[in-house]
Amino acid sequence: MLPKINPLKTKSHAKLKAHAKEMKKIHLRDLFEQSGRFGKFSLTWNDFLFDYSKNIIDQKTLSLLLDFTKEMKLGKAIDSMFSGELINETEKRAVLHTALRKLSPESETDKDFYIGGENVSHLVREVQEKIKTFCGRFHSGSMTGYTGKKFTDIVNIGIGGSDLGPVMVTEALRQDWKEGIHVHFVSNIDPSHIHTILKKINFETTLFLIASKTFTTQETMANANTAKKAFLDSGAQEKDTALHFAALSTNIPKVTEFGITPENTFTFWDWVGGRFSLWSAIGLSIALTIGYDKFLELLRGAREADLHFRHTAPEKNIPVLMAVIGFWYTAFWGSQTEAILPYDQYLHRFPAYLQQGIMESNGKSVDRMGKKVQYPTSPVIWGEPGTNGQHAFYQAIHQGTHFIPSDFIASVHSRNNKHNQHQILLSNCFAQTEALMKGKTKKEVMEELSSKGMSKKEMENLAPYKVFPGNRPSNTFLIKEINPRNLGSLIAFYEHKIFTQGVLWNIFSFDQFGVELGKVLANVILPEIEDKNTKVEHDSSTSGLIRQYHEWK
Ligand code: F6P
Repeated sequence: MLPKINPLKTKSHAKLKAHAKEMKKIHLRDLFEQSGRFGKFSLTWNDFLFDYSKNIIDQKTLSLLLDFTKEMKLGKAIDSMFSGELINETEKRAVLHTALRKLSPESETDKDFYIGGENVSHLVREVQEKIKTFCGRFHSGSMTGYTGKKFTDIVNIGIGGSDLGPVMVTEALRQDWKEGIHVHFVSNIDPSHIHTILKKINFETTLFLIASKTFTTQETMANANTAKKAFLDSGAQEKDTALHFAALSTNIPKVTEFGITPENTFTFWDWVGGRFSLWSAIGLSIALTIGYDKFLELLRGAREADLHFRHTAPEKNIPVLMAVIGFWYTAFWGSQTEAILPYDQYLHRFPAYLQQGIMESNGKSVDRMGKKVQYPTSPVIWGEPGTNGQHAFYQAIHQGTHFIPSDFIASVHSRNNKHNQHQILLSNCFAQTEALMKGKTKKEVMEELSSKGMSKKEMENLAPYKVFPGNRPSNTFLIKEINPRNLGSLIAFYEHKIFTQGVLWNIFSFDQFGVELGKVLANVILPEIEDKNTKVEHDSSTSGLIRQYHEWK
């Protein structure tokens, strides 16, 4: 079980509060005056440099934050998760997405994962073997569609965790795509989404993956039925669906009801949360797109990050540092958002992926004792790849009224370098973190304007607009290259940051009851939209919207 501790009642929280007052008097520029700052507040691990020196922290901040993790019993919480305890208490489930990435067989020193005495690593390996065989047949061409043609297209139908992870990873690893294979993703219930994809594909050479943990999600089931109907309308027979549809799910009876064969069914388990499921059977679209070996590399990278998280001292532990720094800003600096800024076009879905990972996990307001929390929890997560973001919203990060801690992610080697474009990209990334940290003082602005020959009055009028306050914090991940292994590690770091922050906020990170109410109400409203004679009883706004729909329909 996870410890139940009110963070506000810890000694270190009170000390951090007092310390934050002191730190607010210091500018990041001044902190950088002290020599050795980069060495003290950065670390390298495998192909990663994690630079957290451009944060408004000093050695004391860090040691108080780490004291706080001790008081919140983070070490015990980590052990509880990895040992398969039912830490998802509200749903009475273990949380073992980490078990999906342990590839080596059990030994004295490298134990398998267990839940209540059951070796779940065995179950994981069985499904992995099945995925491997399936991928082998798919790529060799021995698996064909109903007209005997080799498959060329994969359509993954799923939403939330059954979509965002696979989309993000396949996009990030575009350079690794198997020749001649195209992957498409359908998630939204909006018929325009599936329509766009169905228009692009040839049904004879397309494999549909119905990805849904529950196999009851309204959007996914509606899209799956539409895909099946379109497949049959294209000239295929009912029996041909056995060749062209596969399911990735924990709900085998529902899969069977849909007409998918056991051979094409890839299962996973309730101890894999939707938003942590890309490593499971939900990752089949990834394995089919980049090949099984590279999918394993992704898992290996995540496993390395798991071992780092589990066994590294907190002061050298990347996810722990990420988590405590984020906590520092939400608790004591009033930060309400965090920007994720990948300087890698292929990581363009990473912010969207983390929106679900972070906000669905830690967007909670009731603590582990059932009480309303008296402090902020998950920030709002958003972002776009650099340099697009620079020409859109960076203005507000530099000079706006919100305090926005940012994560910059960049790679040293582009797998696609054209002329010196990658160097230009990197120069922008580094320049932005420097500008955010330093800002530009009035003195500097005046000197600049004066060199342009401006009058004193003009300079005084313009200067306030040209001053950059600076002191805006950022982390930078500089990675040698975005490849399957490094991507696996990066994702796992963020997963463990999420877990750690859940512990520090004393909330349950692995349920998502907040998504339920809207779903229930949509089911009430659907018949009212379908039939205008159905009695409508809502608030005046909702009833007004429904009435107007019927008037204009
Ligand atoms: O949005 C709620 C949610 O339950 C997510 O947690 C999940 O990833 C998504 O719906 C999809 O669920 P399923 O995989 O069961 O279709």
